[in-house]
Amino acid sequence: MGRLSLRILIINIFSGVLIFALGVLPAKGAEEGKFKYEDFGKPKRCGMCHKEIYQEWKTSLMSQSFTHEWDDVEYFKLALPHALKLKKVAGVKSGCIACHGPLAFLTGDIPPKPPAEGTRVNEGVSCDICHSITGTTKEEPFNFSYTINPGKVKQGPRNDAKSSAHDAEYSDFIRSSRFCATCHDEQSPYGAWVKETYREWKAGPYAREGARCQDCHMYHAPGKSAGGGKDRGDMTHHTFHGAHFANKLSGAVDIALYVKKNEVLPGSALKIRAELFNGKVGHYIPSGSSEERMLWLEVWATDSKGKAYHLPVDKKGFQGEEYTISDSQAFAYQAMGEIMEIKGFKGAKRDGNLPQGARIFRRPFFDPQGRMTICQWYTKENTQVDYRLGPRETKVETYSWEVPEDIAPGAVKIKAVIYYSLVPSSVGEFLKLPPSEYEAKKVNTTGITINVVKP
Ligand code: HEC
Ligand code: HEC
Ligand code: HEC
Ligand code: HEC
Ligand code: HEC
Repeated sequence: MGRLSLRILIINIFSGVLIFALGVLPAKGAEEGKFKYEDFGKPKRCGMCHKEIYQEWKTSLMSQSFTHEWDDVEYFKLALPHALKLKKVAGVKSGCIACHGPLAFLTGDIPPKPPAEGTRVNEGVSCDICHSITGTTKEEPFNFSYTINPGKVKQGPRNDAKSSAHDAEYSDFIRSSRFCATCHDEQSPYGAWVKETYREWKAGPYAREGARCQDCHMYHAPGKSAGGGKDRGDMTHHTFHGAHFANKLSGAVDIALYVKKNEVLPGSALKIRAELFNGKVGHYIPSGSSEERMLWLEVWATDSKGKAYHLPVDKKGFQGEEYTISDSQAFAYQAMGEIMEIKGFKGAKRDGNLPQGARIFRRPFFDPQGRMTICQWYTKENTQVDYRLGPRETKVETYSWEVPEDIAPGAVKIKAVIYYSLVPSSVGEFLKLPPSEYEAKKVNTTGITINVVKP
């Protein structure tokens, strides 16, 4: 081995050790603290000409990414105190803000003032954040790896846009799903992939067919983006509707029910089959904040006298299945109590207020002590079981029902309902969130009728 290559080897070993010593994540994002608030235009100003885009953005979660109550609570009551206490997660003090309140991150205003103070961080993911992003430092982006250059030039999808208010530059990047990935994929300080909507999309059928995030979340229609602008056949709307909007969520999963026979005797066995199909979502459902999202299926039988029975799902026997079947005795999320310094906190009900035995389509996250957690930054492991519905995936569930001896004869209605919740109701109640953050939302439903005949 020559002297030069030996030296390179030593340098390589040294930098390898250094990267190892620094942990998986850089402590500081590349663009942290490089700018002043004045470098970024206020959304209201953009809205003077881009009126409709402004209205859409204003009602979307993008404009509320910092002020929205659950974000406020999770950062100021859990993540920030935790970051100040535990060195391993210290990076989230600015990390959360890089995606949720980029203006404060980019100006180095960390920790930012809470939403009630009314500072400019409240602008959230603003027009001038997205339209100043020029690229990423990563091949497959995650963890706010965007590069940004605010100022007179706005990055956009056209090469012929002209405005007296600013210059415009065509950007391949802003038109790509990789652009969204800079904020939509996230790795925890323990190296776990805690958000991977882009990676889910990339591995699925929609990426192969060329359907971008923008095509489903920013619909295109004839119109003008600004007064004085050109008529466009495919103007970009900025709705960004996701799981917070009933219009996007309802019907996202198809459902069908089947029974082997239409007439049963009291005391006999009936096999019911439910098929769920994700034909509309470009990634897994749930996606994004998977640590706290649940999709579940309830199957109920109601006899002719109105007595209702909840049917427990048949077990399949895969590893980690216990996390996918609701159990009112299971407690989790103990880390919340630890961070909030509540002595003797035994956790909150793992599955909120679901009836016993319902199938849950979820991906459980575990903290370093192996307890299920909604703290994605405190997640060490989340690959034990992933029972969500992938893009264009069908899942089949069966129910073996022992028809009760004392059931009323006549018509029995069997009903299947798919529900979705953003946060387990038990966690929402514990943290006193507004009910709209945790109530069950109906995604789809179907039913069939069978007959109970007298022996
Ligand atoms: C005085 C009116 C006015 C203001 C204020 C204004 N714009 Fe524009 N903007 C326009 C017009 C006109 C166009 C051209 C539209 C077209 O031709 O389709 C445009 C185009 C754009 C484009 C598309 C560029 C491209 O190449 O595709 C972006 C992005 C944009 N503006 C962002 C912003 C942002 C961000 C702000 C606020 C910081 C802003 N604009 C403020 C009038 C304005
Ligand atoms: C989360 C990032 C994001 C935010 C926030 C955002 N935009 Fe955009 N905007 C985009 C993307 C991405 C496109 C191009 C979409 C495509 O390629 O189909 C776009 C397109 C545009 C266009 C070009 C429209 C056209 O089709 O000609 C204008 C103008 C624009 N945005 C203005 C704004 C204004 C004004 C705001 C704030 C009220 C805003 N944007 C907020 C990401 C964003
Ligand atoms: C084929 C259409 C389609 C494509 C492509 C698509 N989405 Fe979605 N997305 C949906 C639908 C429908 C929903 C609502 C159901 C749900 O919440 O999963 C959704 C929901 C979401 C949510 C909310 C998830 C949750 O459960 O909280 C996020 C965030 C999101 N999409 C981001 C993205 C990003 C980023 C991309 C690109 C990498 C993308 N989407 C590509 C259709 C699509
Ligand atoms: C600068 C960071 C950033 C970029 C870039 C970004 N997002 Fe987001 N996005 C966020 C944050 C933060 C939230 C969460 C808002 C909240 O719930 O507080 C979010 C939420 C969403 C949601 C969920 C809304 C809901 O109703 O639940 C959708 C859908 C979404 N983004 C789509 C996109 C798409 C599509 C792109 C690319 C065109 C994109 N985002 C680019 C930061 C970003
Ligand atoms: C890499 C960017 C990124 C980082 C870092 C990040 N988030 Fe998020 N966060 C998002 C996106 C994107 C969503 C939307 C996902 C979805 O809709 O499912 C989101 C969703 C959320 C939600 C759920 C909002 C809702 O309405 O359900 C909360 C709460 C939240 N983040 C808080 C935090 C906290 C606290 C931290 C720091 C520990 C953090 N985030 C770090 C991008 C990020």
